[in-house]
Amino acid sequence: MIPNILVIPGSNRSGSFNASLAAAVSVELAHQGADVTRISLVDYPLPLVDEDLKNQSGIPDNALKLGRLIAAQDGVFLCCPEYNSSIPPLLKNMIDWVSLIARDGDKPFKPWKGRFVALGSASNGRFAGIRGLYHVRSVMMNVGTQVISEQCSVGGAANAFDADGRLKDERTAAMMASTCTSLIAHCTMMNSR
Ligand SMILES: Cc1cc2nc3c(=O)[nH]c(=O)nc-3n(C[C@H](O)[C@H](O)[C@H](O)COP(=O)(O)O)c2cc1C
Repeated sequence: MIPNILVIPGSNRSGSFNASLAAAVSVELAHQGADVTRISLVDYPLPLVDEDLKNQSGIPDNALKLGRLIAAQDGVFLCCPEYNSSIPPLLKNMIDWVSLIARDGDKPFKPWKGRFVALGSASNGRFAGIRGLYHVRSVMMNVGTQVISEQCSVGGAANAFDADGRLKDERTAAMMASTCTSLIAHCTMMNSR
């Protein structure tokens, strides 16, 4: 079977390193046989998560749209900036809104449940964003996804990509490729049971 994988960069910054990583990851996943959808959270603006707002107006349309998109996938690849050693608010806010979805119409609906998730990070800093991934991993396990062990981090991100968007460093490219391989393997294994 061909796994469906959604790639989400956790930054809307123009020139985002994590958007570049998401583009490289998408090419690699497609090269390895996955059916890839890459989105930008620019297209899904959300208010700050707020239970009063949820109780008054329900789940925002964009959160529900994201939830439906996520639920239609076998796997999700998150490319995560690191803010103060942790998860950036744009990403956390999106994850939180989607986690608050309980129903779609009259059907129970938990979009994160059972999805396989791979993590990547890119930063121009020395630690390549790896410290933030511990936090993202913990959050994603809490919302019911299965986060794979393999992950990839791109340091010195301002100079890490060539003009075609490929990772220049061989070891980093191999780490990214093996993270994609493992995500596809997990998705494929689950579907063949
Ligand atoms: C509030 C804030 C905190 C940050 N903290 C870190 C950090 O702890 N580690 C790090 O490597 N970079 C940190 N950065 C720099 C980000 O890595 C940098 O802005 C990066 O470009 C964000 O990813 P993007 O290029 O995908 O937008 C921080 C940036 C902001 C705005």
